[in-house]
Amino acid sequence: MSGSAPVDPTTTSAWADLARLADAYSPDLRTALTPERVTQHSLVAADLLVDLSKNLVDDEVGAALHRLADEAGVLRRRDAMFAGEHINVTEDRAALHTALRLPTDASLTVDGQDVVADVHEVLARVYSFADRVRTGEWTGVTGKRIQTVVNIGIGGSDLGPVMAYEALEPYRQDGLTCRFISNIDPTDAGQKLTGLDPETTLFIVSSKTFGTLETLTNARLCKAWLLDHLPAESDPEAAVAQHFVAVSTALDKVADFGIDPDNAFGFWDWVGGRYSMDSAIGLSLVVAIGPTHFAEMLAGFHAMDEHFRTAPAADNVPLRMGLLNVWYANFLGAHTHAVLPYSQLLHRFPAYLQQLTMESNGKRVRWDGEAVGHDTGEIFWGEPGTNGQHAFYQLIHQGTRLIPADFIAFARPAYALRDGDTDVHELFLANFFAQTQALAVGKTADEVRAEGVAEELVAARTFPGNRPTSSIMAPELTPAVLGQLVALYEHITFVEGAVWGIDSFDQWGVELGKQLAQQLQPAVSGDDSVLAEQDASTQSLIRYYQEHRGR
Ligand code: F6P
Repeated sequence: MSGSAPVDPTTTSAWADLARLADAYSPDLRTALTPERVTQHSLVAADLLVDLSKNLVDDEVGAALHRLADEAGVLRRRDAMFAGEHINVTEDRAALHTALRLPTDASLTVDGQDVVADVHEVLARVYSFADRVRTGEWTGVTGKRIQTVVNIGIGGSDLGPVMAYEALEPYRQDGLTCRFISNIDPTDAGQKLTGLDPETTLFIVSSKTFGTLETLTNARLCKAWLLDHLPAESDPEAAVAQHFVAVSTALDKVADFGIDPDNAFGFWDWVGGRYSMDSAIGLSLVVAIGPTHFAEMLAGFHAMDEHFRTAPAADNVPLRMGLLNVWYANFLGAHTHAVLPYSQLLHRFPAYLQQLTMESNGKRVRWDGEAVGHDTGEIFWGEPGTNGQHAFYQLIHQGTRLIPADFIAFARPAYALRDGDTDVHELFLANFFAQTQALAVGKTADEVRAEGVAEELVAARTFPGNRPTSSIMAPELTPAVLGQLVALYEHITFVEGAVWGIDSFDQWGVELGKQLAQQLQPAVSGDDSVLAEQDASTQSLIRYYQEHRGR
């Protein structure tokens, strides 16, 4: 299956059926939202309740979407992924992030290697190191206890750890904080190093390839800062050994950088960067929340993996949500997809999902190199509620575009605060419930008139409704629930990519910009012969910089 040509979904009979159904489809969620429909479309996956009833589908569309999955071979590809086949065809690799969360007693041999044993060996080292930092056994070179962990990484080596660090704030150990340096804009390192005590700071250089310009530049900046700011008598080699550790698949490059291989934690080429927060790339998170909570998060990931792997199609949440996204993107004309967590703790979740979904599915050729004949890759975006309500919800409610939206909320708050007699979390949740209701049901012109609104304002104050949403709820944002949520979106992304016949696990589209930045750098720094080779617009912009750089 891995190397064979994908099915062109546009040639399937299900695709033709869906196109016909889309033409004739005229949703009316106001009358459709019966208790029977809600029961039919309310699914449970691990600790998540997922209510899909407010989506623009009827039974015929739902059945055609499942036929599309069958004809496109989505479940065959799912099984190939879990088995470790090389479904990442353009890089000839497995995409085996699901192995990162297999329990110790599971077994999986891939390319002749017992991956479960490998995973748990690294996890044991990660947990033991994190415990040493958390208990104060691991100290800086001057013997002081570590108080700040700085993760240096970008993309998948940053977004997952920072998102989870923020999301699991209630689980962090007092007296230990993390900072995250990702951007090569020197402002990032400049700001994050400000106020740090070098004697109590530990740097984690996180890079799958250990070749990423931003990360290596920032690592060198931090190393120089450390050596400049430690007491003069500190031995530089010992200082680096105590204050720098690394996470990478390229352990030889880690050693070249001067980090003791004993202080390096590995992972494998079958873990994509954007699928790596549950590997050793999560080291900063393990230090912050502790091995027990990290293991609970892994168990959450695994619970969702098992759901995706085994639940019947009708109850399979990632399958159904992925197929709904295909329906909206390919048949109802949606270009973007909002993710709206009603949880301040999840404020980095949309940013995390942007890499996961768009680096995975932003492709214009299939895995056999043929051009796709349909749209791929929805644009994911979002902000926590209720902030988004006062910013962009206007367009979702009354704009001309169809924007499917996922709403996420938790029954129990991280902070239970009251405003007089009002439980503020309940006020917050009332907004969560109200928004999906308003989007589905809308407000008719007659209802607006009945409120006594002047006739000339009726149209502006009417809400069309039939704006699709999925509601995801869980009792509380625990480490396990966070793992379930992330795995849910990994698998939704997988389903979409499998229908579209694309390789969701490569990212060639990021390479050209990287190459050009390296070629252009001499021109930026004053090499006129390189500047002269550039296009006119680029030359003009670089000249503007040179005239205004102030030195
Ligand atoms: O440039 C894109 C990318 O390769 C991402 O896929 C990856 O998460 C990020 O860069 C960082 O890569 P690395 O972990 O190898 O430094």
